[in-house]
Amino acid sequence: MRLARREVRVRAPGKVNLSLRVGPRDPDGYHRLGTVFQAVSVYEDVAARAADTLRVTVVGPGAERVPAGEENLALRAARLLAEHTGIADGIQLRVTKAVPVAGGMAGGSADAAAALLACDAFWGTALPREELAELGATLGADVPFLLMGQTAVGTGRGDLLTPALSRGEYHWAFGIQEDGLPTPAVFDEFDALTPDPRIPDLDSEVALLQALRAGDAVAVGTLLHNDLQAAALELRPDLVETLAVAEDAGALGVVISGSGPTVAALGRSRQHALALAAAMTAAGVVDSVLTASGPVHGARVLPGSDVL
Ligand code: C5P
Repeated sequence: MRLARREVRVRAPGKVNLSLRVGPRDPDGYHRLGTVFQAVSVYEDVAARAADTLRVTVVGPGAERVPAGEENLALRAARLLAEHTGIADGIQLRVTKAVPVAGGMAGGSADAAAALLACDAFWGTALPREELAELGATLGADVPFLLMGQTAVGTGRGDLLTPALSRGEYHWAFGIQEDGLPTPAVFDEFDALTPDPRIPDLDSEVALLQALRAGDAVAVGTLLHNDLQAAALELRPDLVETLAVAEDAGALGVVISGSGPTVAALGRSRQHALALAAAMTAAGVVDSVLTASGPVHGARVLPGSDVL
């Protein structure tokens, strides 16, 4: 092992909510959710090296819009794990971003998930995944899912997970806006628009879960659903046009991802996803596009890492 320049690298995916149902706000400020997550092949990479203190640098698209100080989620993850396990060592984290910043694809939670796993492997604390997930849930509601990956049903804040069966590969085009939407503002707008929300129940997801089990992308497309969509559109009315462009280009389904503003369009194939992305670019309704597929693995240590 190259002990002098030890490095551990971890990759965590972003996510799209195939269905997101939002209930009332609990006294803790969080809303009761019922959601079906799919992890997608847009990744955050976190590299960990020895250092005297806990430090983070962020590179990649939108890195300048990620807080680099104490509130950085990768740094908070490192601090939390150190406190939890009694580790007094420092660590240098380098986050390489690909998931859109404040885009509704859980880029911040992916950083926290990757940093937790990277620090755990670097320090040799070897916590069980469930314990990492419990710690991670205090940093972001999506962290437990990004540790797990693949497809899952989420309840509670979205942090209580049950893995779901899914067949086949789903091909996405994501329309990205540089000007992100703060998740709390979208939930506040949801409250203003929805005086008496129903408590989400999993019966609403039966058809979607059946379609996923059958690998029926056409049915999955028609069943995409997001209770936060109206709130996101209220804050960003321009997204109506982005959704329409992807629909007109023949997407199997189009939905705002999470709290937005990213627009997720499901294609018939990898090629078709590229065509959907090209249509959004050509119409001038997005700042950039990404194509990706899902479901993919959760956070994992990359080969070549010097794990303790
Ligand atoms: O935990 P996460 O970072 O994803 O949440 C960001 C914010 O989104 C929370 O502070 C809360 O305002 C809102 N939220 C919510 N209900 C959830 C998840 C998030 O109201 N279930």
